Amino acid sequence: MVIQTRAEPAPIDRAELDVSLRPFGHSRMLPRGAYVDPEVFAWEQRHFFDGGWMCVGRSEAVASPGDQRAESLGTAGVLLTRGQDGTLRAFANVCSHRGHELLPCGASASHGRVICPYHSWSYTLEGEVWTAPGFKDLEGFDPTEHGLTQLPCAEWHGLVFVDGSGEAAPLDESLGTLDAVVAPYDMARLRVAGTHEYTVASNWKILTENYHECYHCPMIHPELCEVSPPKSGDNYHLPGGWVGGTMDLRDGMDTMSLDGVSHGEALPGLTGKGLREVIYVNVFPNILISLHPDYVMTHRLTPLAADSTRIECTWAFSPQSLARPDFDPSYAMTFWDITNQQDWNACASVQRGLSSRHARPGPMAGEEDAVYQFVTMVARGYLGQPVRNTGTRVSAG
Ligand code: FES
Ligand SMILES: [Fe+2]
Repeated sequence: MVIQTRAEPAPIDRAELDVSLRPFGHSRMLPRGAYVDPEVFAWEQRHFFDGGWMCVGRSEAVASPGDQRAESLGTAGVLLTRGQDGTLRAFANVCSHRGHELLPCGASASHGRVICPYHSWSYTLEGEVWTAPGFKDLEGFDPTEHGLTQLPCAEWHGLVFVDGSGEAAPLDESLGTLDAVVAPYDMARLRVAGTHEYTVASNWKILTENYHECYHCPMIHPELCEVSPPKSGDNYHLPGGWVGGTMDLRDGMDTMSLDGVSHGEALPGLTGKGLREVIYVNVFPNILISLHPDYVMTHRLTPLAADSTRIECTWAFSPQSLARPDFDPSYAMTFWDITNQQDWNACASVQRGLSSRHARPGPMAGEEDAVYQFVTMVARGYLGQPVRNTGTRVSAG
């Protein structure tokens, strides 16, 4: 099963990547250039972010007919529209007249037509030209030749994914093995009650690698260690375009909050183990999904440069929690804002460290096997191979 094929290898020495691809316990992290080289970053934008499925936000941001939203997609932008029939569509965010963005990235609108703010060409929600002022009597002008460029778009558990290449295999082929893990959380029914935006002076992969291990937790996360033992849980070993694992809650702790108390309702689909653990999943390349007993947090990474990443962090809760008259999401948001800042400080420091020409790729501890899964996915992608986790259980032999 091929997920994504990338013919052009990244500008990184093959022998260095071979070291990253050695068996777990014998391998090293990615070569330094993967984190600091602008040419590698440009390659990643073309091949990882423009070149396949990427998460561009949540379905609830374009929930109703006429809703429109623009998001960045690699080096370019995408316009999402919800049609009158409820179908979500994605288009390159570029007007067919002279190329103006149809909406600024990060902006929303709600209208029965897509209207370009430059010379007011308008389009239907399906991307056909509706009006082109001044062109009506122009000989040879055929509006059907000037519709918007449509891109493949998929809604997956309340998240929106767009394939900027237009050529990737269906999203289900890379995420099929994750469906059963996330299904009990019924993410499509949850609603965001809080959002934070961060810009971190760190490469996007450093942030993801940090997400995949709690080896650092005893040193920098005292609050987290109070509610979740850093060595608890296990990592998944399933094939697909994702990496993830679990961590347990300590006895007496209901969720990840400063005192372990939940101020919401447990998600209705969870029983037993689901109420006693937190699942941490990274869907390649840019969305981190943290599934708690009573809320789902996402970190959506938008790489800005080799050493800079924007992160949109959202906290979503069940309708039952939101219906509580005194509901306040800050118990979850405050805990994770403190923890996020601790992580961002560490990641920015790693970025500064790796900027030294003396930095060399380091080894991974036994409890960093999800980092290994991620690193090997990226290394295979750099070599022009499909970006997918093989799902092979690794041991630090
Ligand atoms: S560029 Fe959009 S109407 Fe001219
Ligand atoms: Fe952390």
